[in-house]
Formats: sequence, C-alpha cells, structure tokens
Amino acid sequence: MCGIVGFTGRQSAAPVLLEGLKKLEYRGYDSAGIAVMDGKSITVNKVRGRIANLCEKTKDGAKVPGTTGIGHTRWATHGAPTEENAHPHLSNDGRFAIVHNGIIENYLSLREELTQDGYHFLSETDTEVIVHLLEMYYRGNVRDALIKTANRLRGSYALGVICSEEPGKIYAVREASPLILGVGIDENFFASDVTALVNHTRNVIYLEDGEFAELSDTSIRIFDCSGQEIHKKATRVLWDVQAAEKGGYEHFMLKEIMEQPGAVKATLAPRMKEHGVEFEELTGLLPKLPSIRKILITACGSAYYAGCAGKYALEHLARIPVEVELASELRYSDPLIDESTLLIVISQSGETADTIAAMKECKARGAKTLAIVNVVGSSVATLADFAVYTWAGPEIAVATTKGYTTQVTVLYMLALYFADHLNRIGEEKARLQEALQAMPRRIQESIDMNANIPALARKYHKAKALFFIGRNTDYAVALEGALKMKEISYLHAEAYAAGELKHGTIALIEEHQPVIALCANPSIMEKTLSNMVEVKSRGAEVLALTFRNNQKILSVADDLLFMPEVDPLFSAVMEIVPLQLLAYYVARENGCDIDKPKNLAKSVTVE
Ligand code: G6P
Repeated sequence: MCGIVGFTGRQSAAPVLLEGLKKLEYRGYDSAGIAVMDGKSITVNKVRGRIANLCEKTKDGAKVPGTTGIGHTRWATHGAPTEENAHPHLSNDGRFAIVHNGIIENYLSLREELTQDGYHFLSETDTEVIVHLLEMYYRGNVRDALIKTANRLRGSYALGVICSEEPGKIYAVREASPLILGVGIDENFFASDVTALVNHTRNVIYLEDGEFAELSDTSIRIFDCSGQEIHKKATRVLWDVQAAEKGGYEHFMLKEIMEQPGAVKATLAPRMKEHGVEFEELTGLLPKLPSIRKILITACGSAYYAGCAGKYALEHLARIPVEVELASELRYSDPLIDESTLLIVISQSGETADTIAAMKECKARGAKTLAIVNVVGSSVATLADFAVYTWAGPEIAVATTKGYTTQVTVLYMLALYFADHLNRIGEEKARLQEALQAMPRRIQESIDMNANIPALARKYHKAKALFFIGRNTDYAVALEGALKMKEISYLHAEAYAAGELKHGTIALIEEHQPVIALCANPSIMEKTLSNMVEVKSRGAEVLALTFRNNQKILSVADDLLFMPEVDPLFSAVMEIVPLQLLAYYVARENGCDIDKPKNLAKSVTVE
C-alpha cells in the first residue's frame, strides 16, 4: 500500500525522506516521489519504479536543498503507475504539494467541479482533487484551507501537505488511513507506518480519524476537524524495525489475515450504494448483460478457488450458468466460447502466465472479459475489457489470504449487481445487501471466535494427512482450506466433496485420522453430518467448522472451529478465516518458513 513520510528540522530533508521511503518499500509500491521546500520554493522529484531511481535522480538527496519536505511511495489505484500519477502532486499555482494514502470516493464529481472552475489536472489520480481544493480554499491560512478541503472529501485519506507560504511547516491529516507523528529534538516527522520513524525517534503520537497536525522543527500542534486544538501525549514504540514492518505480528501472513475486515471493507465501500450494488467500471457492460448466456471463470491457485466459491451466488442470483476452469487447462482445451460468453478472470497479481494465456485465448474467440484483479495497471487489468479492482493492498506473504477474500467479495457483489440489472431479484435484495455490508464485521467475529486454534494446531500438527470435507459452498471453501494447509505447513491436505467419500477416500480413513468437516450451509448440513458419523465410526477425529449454537454438529465433532451464522450464499469469506488461522498455526508448530514457503512464488509468471 502507499507510504507517506514527512520531515521538518535543521538538517537536509531529502536524505531523511529517501531513507524513510526505503523503510516503507516492504509494503509494495510502483512509483515514488519527494517534495522539498527551500525557503519559499518547492521542488518535486518523482520516478516510476524503485526508490533507487529516485536516489539516483536526486544524488541521494544532495541535489535537493531544503530542510522541510514530504515523500511518498505509490501503489497504483486510480491511474497507471506513471511518473505523472506518482505523488507528490502540486497545485496549479505551485503553492501546495501533497501526498495521499487512501481513496477519495467522490473524486469524479470534485474533478468535474474543479475543471469547470479552471483548474488543470496533470494526473489521473483521485488525489489531485485535494491539492486543487487546497488552492481554491486558501485565503492566507493553511489550517482553514485544510478544514474546508477535508469537509469536501468522502473516503479515506492520510495526507501530508506543505505550503510555500509557510516555510518550515508540514501538515498531516488523517481520516480512516493511518498516520503517526514522530517527536524529535529540533526536528519532527510523520509517517504512515512506524517503520519509517523508529530510526529517528521512538516517541510517537497516533493521529485519530478527523484530526490534523501542524509540525515545525520545534513544535507539534494537533487539531480536531473543527480546528479546535487538542492535546495528545506521545507514546514510546518498543518494536524493532522488523516487528514494526509486520505491525507487531510474527509473520506477514498473520498480519494479512487480520487485515481482512479492512480489505473487504475497502473493496465493498466504493460499490455499495443505498439503492444497491453499483460498479462504475462496468457501465459499459450493462447493455450487453442480457445477451450473456454463460459466465466462464478462469484463474490459478487460490484465485481459481475464489471462482469456485463465487459460482454459487452468481448462478443462484443472476441465473446465468457459470463454469469455473483452471487457466492452465482452459488455455489448451479448445473452449466453446463466443460473444455471448462473459469471461471472468481472477488474479491477485495480474501477472500469472497461465491466466494471461487463457484470457488471450478466450478473447480471440470473442468473449467479453472482466478481470477481478488487485494490481492496477497489471497485464490482466490492461488486457481486460473491464477491470474491477480488489482493494486488498499489497500482499507480501506468498500464501494469499486477503487476496482471496476480496476476490470472493467482488464475485458476491457481481452476483447481486447482475441479478439487479437483469431484474432477477426481488425481496431478497435488501437482506442480501445488508449481508454484504456486514461482512467486515462478520470476518472480525470469525477471527475473534477462534482463540483455541493454537491449541488445536498443537494437537493436529503431526498428522500425516488432513482431509477436508464439505458439500456445495462448504466444498468450495474446503478446497481453499486444504490448499492453505499444504502451501505453508507441508502437510498432505486434500479436499473432498463429502458425498464422494464412499467412492474412494473413505478407504484412507483409519484410527486418529483427522477430518475437517465444513458445516456452514444449513441446506446440506444433515448430509455432511452423516459423513462425519461415517468417518468417526472408522476411527477418524473430526474437527468441525460450524456455528456456535449448532448442537447437532457439536455433539458429533471431537473439536470445533467457529464462524458466525451467515447466509450460505455469502459464507465463504467468513468460513475460510478459521482455516487460514489453522494452517498458519500448524505451520508455526512445524517450524515452517510461513511467509516464504519452499518451492512457491508469490506470482507465477512462467508456465
Ligand atoms: C501463486 C500464489 C497463489 C495464487 C496463485 C495465482 O500460486 O502463490 O497464492 O493464488 O499464484 O496468482 P494470482 O496472482 O493470479 O492470483
């Protein structure tokens, strides 16, 4: 995700900013920039690609005089990763430079308004509206301009601002995106992440939503959104840099599991409107929707399993037949595809070789293509007729977690969106919309309900194999649950449609064989329950995943994982969380390299 740093002091700002940005590199980014104020003039340097390029361009900062500045690493969201779209952005009069993390949801209407008022836009970013608003509202007082600007913004933002009229000052504004002030001696800092601060100071002040701060070399003043000054105490950071990068978690994977409520919320928020789900990026698809006869989903790895999980909601709500096919198979399968096929391509990285090849094959046969992708400007996003982004932020652990749950979230939203625009949904709509809105909260419940997972991991980590069983939507989640276990713990894990047990797998069940039974779909639960009884009578230990009050399952299972009771159409996102945690803790028990499992790569760009 994007990173922000700010510095004001007596030493040269550029080297401090560059060093801070390097500390944020681990978060992932595709361009970077700094703006430094020397007296009343602001110099901006930006590059595409690595911070090393920025160091080269500025001779490690030596070419940029000045003791006050802001810096940014950008992970592209609105607009491709180009130099123009990189931050900092300047106001037309050159007075203000800003850096921004987050998403401004109402940027299109603001952009239209500002363009009409004569402001020129140099980038495609949502951020640029902020700097023009600041120029528009500036009447000699930066604080007033900040308050008026913030009042116009909807969405999330952490902002770093400098103004040439106020040499030596940096401003920080926070709304739903982290921003931390660093308290130094004769110098002060801010950053979106404590890692960029700890080399300079361990005394920090956490800004809260709606607060902003004015920093000079010797003072830090904090205000609420009405401009009222507030007083906050500094706290001392005890983490070392490595722990700070992981937000205090032992591994990126665990951090990313915990980030899922926020990632799913960020993916939902821009599309959930009062009247229903809206995808601005899909308005061009709407007229073609009635002629679509088949949806074909293709992807690799977990993204493929996300497709398997989303299929049920798409078919049930939109009433369009859905096939899910592995990209590595589809590309060589001479697929039956024409203009009435909508190909949905799912990819976190947007660079998976098989996925791209399958997509090209289907495009050549006339399919319309819709990509669900996490990386803006990636190959999959660029090739697709329509790109729908998951706003998961960069994923660092090789095994995907928030990538998967945000992909499934988009499929759920698409199901409701298609159903609505095809007039195939009635009373159910309001209830399902509410269910979608509640998902971030429900995911948090899934995390909170399972404090006993480390203990379960201690019990099961020595198993030779783990079988995951389930039916229907539960089966789709079992596939991803087993993959997570394999990837990071190196245990043999297999998912079976529970109804298939008698056709082979049951031969493998012996005394103490763990079987993980997924029971989150009431329509089919009795059947899975029978399968649980069958394996138990052959000596299996059953670890069931279900709701807290599900007495029948509770009475048969040996051990339990819990999830909140949710509509089975939308359950995968909550249901996978305990399985991610189980895989994580089993791998930890086994001493595995969790973030970088052996033989695996985050992005498979070769066949
Ligand atoms: C690799 C990763 C998986 C991912 C798969 C597809 O195998 O380790 O986590 O699901 O690639 O990647 P994509 O970037 O296309 O989603």
